[in-house]
Amino acid sequence: MDAEECLKEWEDLLTDYKRLETVNKDYIAKLEEVGELQSQCMKELEHQRYRMNVIAGALKRLEKKGVTKDERVANLEKEIMKRKAMLHEIKATLPKQNSMYLRIILGNVNVSILNKNDKFKYKDEYEKFKLVLSAIAFVLAVLNLYVDFRPLQLILIFLLVWYYCTLTIRESILKVNGSRIKGWWRLHHFVSTVVAGILLIWPQNEPWNEFRHTFMWFIAYISVVQYMQFRYQSGVLYRLKALGARHNMDITIEGFHSWMWRGLSYLLPFLFGGYVFQLYIAYTLYHLSYHPEATWQVPYLAALYLLLHFCNMYTILRTLRKKTQGGLKLRYKLRAIAYRLSNEVAVLEQKWRQSKVESKTE
Ligand code: COA
Repeated sequence: MDAEECLKEWEDLLTDYKRLETVNKDYIAKLEEVGELQSQCMKELEHQRYRMNVIAGALKRLEKKGVTKDERVANLEKEIMKRKAMLHEIKATLPKQNSMYLRIILGNVNVSILNKNDKFKYKDEYEKFKLVLSAIAFVLAVLNLYVDFRPLQLILIFLLVWYYCTLTIRESILKVNGSRIKGWWRLHHFVSTVVAGILLIWPQNEPWNEFRHTFMWFIAYISVVQYMQFRYQSGVLYRLKALGARHNMDITIEGFHSWMWRGLSYLLPFLFGGYVFQLYIAYTLYHLSYHPEATWQVPYLAALYLLLHFCNMYTILRTLRKKTQGGLKLRYKLRAIAYRLSNEVAVLEQKWRQSKVESKTE
C-alpha cells in the first residue's frame, strides 16, 4: 500500500466508523431503556409484594378471629401462593445486588444471570464440579487408607479446604440468581471449610494417627453419597426443564412427583447414614480429647462435627416436612412453567437473530 492508498483506505474506514458510532448510540439508548424498564419492574414488584402482604395479613387476622374459611378464601390463598412463586420468577429476571460475602470476595462485579437457560447451565456445571471433586477426594481417601504418607494426607485436606471454599462462592452466586437453597446447606460448607482448615493444622501426633482412618472412611463415604446426590439433583434439574416443554403438564407433574419421592427414598438412608457417621466422629474426637497428647484441635473438631450432625438432621427433617405439606406439585409446576417461558423467549430471540442475518444477506 502506498501513501495514496492508505489515505483512501482511511477515508473508507471513516464511513465504517460512522456506522459503528450509530450502532453504538442505538445500543447505549437501548441499554438505558433496559435500565429504566428494570427499575420500573422492581417498583411494580415491590408494589405487588406490599399489597399481597396486606391481603395475607388481613386473612390471618380473620383466621385468628375464628371466621370460617369458605371456598372463595381457600381459592384466594391458593392464588396468593401462585402469585408469590411467579413474583419469585420475575425477580430472577432482574439484576440483583451481590451479597456481602460476594462483595468482599469478588468486589462489586455483576454476577446476575438473567436468562433461565444460562442459569440452568450454571447450576448444571456446579453439580458436575461437585461430582468431579468428590471423585478425586474418594480416590485420595482410599489411597490414604492404604498408604501412611503425610504429604498425601495434606493434599487431601488442602483439597477439601479449597473445595468447600469454592462451593461457598458458587452457592452465593446461585443464591443471588434466585436459587432456593436453604441457608444451612450454604452455612454447612462454611463450617466444613473451617473443619478442613483445623484438620490441616492438626499436628501429626498419636491422636491424629488414631483418628485418621475414621476420617478417611468418612470422606470416602460422603464422596459416594455426593455421587447419589448428583444423580438426584441433575435428575430434578433435567426433568423440570423437560416438563416445561410438555403440553399436558398436569399428567407429567404427577410422574415427576413420584420420581422425586423414589429418588429421595433411595438417597435418604445414605444421607442419614452420613449424619450418624458425623455423630460417631464427634464421639470419637470427644474421647480423643482426653488423650495426653491431644491438642486444641481435637475438642473443637468434636464440637463442629456435633454441630454438623444436629443442623443437618434438623434441616433435612424440615425439608421433608415441607415436601409432604400441600402445594409441592404446584411449586414444581410453576418452576417448570418458568423454564417453558424462558425457552419461548430463547426461541424468539433466535428467530429474531436469524431474520436479521437473512435481511442483511438479501
Ligand atoms: N446443596 C446445594 N443445593 C441444594 C442442596 C444442597 N445440599 N439441597 C437443596 N439444594 C437446592 C436445590 O437444588 C434447589 O435449588 P434451585 O432452587 O436452584 O432449584 C433448592 O436448593 C431447593 O431444594 P429443595 O426442593 O428444598 O430440595 P431438593 O429436593 O432439591 O433436595 C435433599 C433435597 C434432601 C436431597 C437435599 O437438600 C440434600 O441432598 N441435602 C443433604 C445435603 C447434605 O447433607 N450433605 C452432606 C452429606 S454428609
